[in-house]
Amino acid sequence: MPEKFYITTPIYYPSDKLHIGHAYCTVATDVIARYKRLQGYDVMFLTGTDEHGQKIEDKAKAAGVTPQQYVDNIVEGERGVLDLWKLMNISYDRFIRTTDDYHVSAIQKIFKAMYDKGDIYKGKYVGKYCKPCESFWTESQLKDGKCPDCGGEVQDAEEEAYFFRLSKYADQVQDLLENTSFLEPRSRVNEMVNNFIKPGLEDLCVSRTSFTWGIPVDFDPGHVVYVWIDALFNYMTALGYMNDKYNDLDTFWPADVHIIGKEIVRFHTIIWPAMLMSMGLPLPKKVFGHGWLLLDGGKMSKSKGNVVDPYLLSEKFGVDALRFFLLRTFPFGSDGSFSNELLIQTINIDLANDLGNLVSRTTAMVGKYFDGTLSAERRYEKERDDELVSLTTGLRSRYEQAMEQYAPHKALEEIFKVIQRANKYIDENAPWILAKDPQDRPRLASVLYHLLEATRICGILLTPFMPESMDKLFTQIGAGPDCRTWESAGIWAALPEDTAVVKGENLFPRIDAEKELAELEAISAAAKRAALPQLEIEPLTEEPVDFDTFCRSDFRAVKVKACENVKKSDKLLRFTLDDGTGVDRQILSGIAKWYKPEDLVGKTLVAIVNLPPRKMMGLDSCGMLLSAVHTEKGEEVLNLLMLHDAIPAGAKLC
Ligand code: MSP
Repeated sequence: MPEKFYITTPIYYPSDKLHIGHAYCTVATDVIARYKRLQGYDVMFLTGTDEHGQKIEDKAKAAGVTPQQYVDNIVEGERGVLDLWKLMNISYDRFIRTTDDYHVSAIQKIFKAMYDKGDIYKGKYVGKYCKPCESFWTESQLKDGKCPDCGGEVQDAEEEAYFFRLSKYADQVQDLLENTSFLEPRSRVNEMVNNFIKPGLEDLCVSRTSFTWGIPVDFDPGHVVYVWIDALFNYMTALGYMNDKYNDLDTFWPADVHIIGKEIVRFHTIIWPAMLMSMGLPLPKKVFGHGWLLLDGGKMSKSKGNVVDPYLLSEKFGVDALRFFLLRTFPFGSDGSFSNELLIQTINIDLANDLGNLVSRTTAMVGKYFDGTLSAERRYEKERDDELVSLTTGLRSRYEQAMEQYAPHKALEEIFKVIQRANKYIDENAPWILAKDPQDRPRLASVLYHLLEATRICGILLTPFMPESMDKLFTQIGAGPDCRTWESAGIWAALPEDTAVVKGENLFPRIDAEKELAELEAISAAAKRAALPQLEIEPLTEEPVDFDTFCRSDFRAVKVKACENVKKSDKLLRFTLDDGTGVDRQILSGIAKWYKPEDLVGKTLVAIVNLPPRKMMGLDSCGMLLSAVHTEKGEEVLNLLMLHDAIPAGAKLC
């Protein structure tokens, strides 16, 4: 019986189309899953979508559809999540959606079980909530009053809610983090322990009543289960935990590894193990928190218009080249800065030059000098051959070591050392010179055979990264099924002596960097422009006003002495102003929607002071305050004109 291996990606939040950052995590997981299959493991690779929460409810409302319709479109629609994983050749075995019935009822049972145990209890939630991150924070966890994860605004939150006794598991979780290899890279352990556990783990609010798009707490209508409880248990419900849909729990749980991004390590290494401890369930063996793919020095964000579209890059450069680039360029545990230059450079140097040339030169020479089928005669030259042979035969174990440490970038580095050595070997042995002397034919056959072997072994180990291209490579170098296996990657001379090559297409054509960069630059500039708020300003008045009429308007700097809301009006603010005359001036202004009265006291504004007084809500308004007005996303936006405070009250504007 093959050994089992259970690997997961985070389930994606389908609030927008996925970008290259999401693809990075999934491609990495796919590479590891394929590597394990290559080794002979029976792999279960799970991915899916995390579809509940207030953000989805809000987005659906804005789009005029139901939340279910909204997520269905992003998951199943054109260029949605499923399409993207197909395009990126993601070999997942199971896809879970948290709106699937079996998952919903399983979560209700899990919630009830923790409640019955006393680990979930009812209380009152007072704190802060970050909508985009769907996270609750206590005052002390905020960074400068903002969400410590995304730096965004948080809202006050107070409501009756259920709590999970996270505090009860603090010591056990700390022990797990500090004394086992549960969380990797190890550098993330300190962050968890120092920032979250040591300051004191508070009980976690695990239900909401302020929105409805979630899994209902079935024994208390009005409450929906906190989205992270719903989401984390996907890793088990997808195997059949608390449901009859699947029956794979005994085979695959505990998971061998959860691959996740660094910002969700807290949920996976504190909350997740604590809940499993509460349920008396085995813990996953490992959580690996990878870094972020950054753009322009920051996280990709649709609102900044700086997301990188994996569809566009795959269409231009090929899916395999993109998959390869993501893992070759950035050390998996650290952040990396994405750029189109880097992408094109990596493809041109590693794939077109190094690997592509090795394959095309070698197969072309077997074609030219042996009519495509290598002769069996050989002449080995120890001093010339040993280095390449030993470097290549040791490759599999160096590669395995790196892959086991979740360091695919290191595994690729090892492969490319061999590819570069093989290219050098061509130059050292100059087959074109050997081809001139019939006496050197056995030597020529040996040199080309060595090159085919080195290519074959590299090809096997590159298969998890670039499955389709390596298939083509094997066909070109004449490697049959037996010569493509993990076992054969550890064996030198697996190819038949009279191996026959097949001339094929260029695996990795060279990219015209200048042309492609200009095109990508133009696309990205257009995306950034499109992300700018759609501003509308009123058309300019064409009818002229004569100069004397204009000069009769008296504009003055005025200082706000007091400001308050007008009773029974949700629009008007009442200003008491110093206009430099020594007598207070009262102006009413319909700007309550944009300003809080207390924020305006002391400000220096501009008023037109010679308008006849007007009565509003029974009060006199003697003049008008000037504002700039425009429309943004269909909403009127108003900004009061404010002057430098050094300008005295009464100063005339002309
Ligand atoms: N729904 C949660 C996960 C629940 S798992 C029980 C979630 N979803 S997400 O769609 O926001 O993110 C999914 C994964 O994509 C995360 O691991 C996140 O780190 C990763 N990435 C999103 N943007 C990324 C980059 N720019 N770079 C690398 N990974 C990034 O979190």
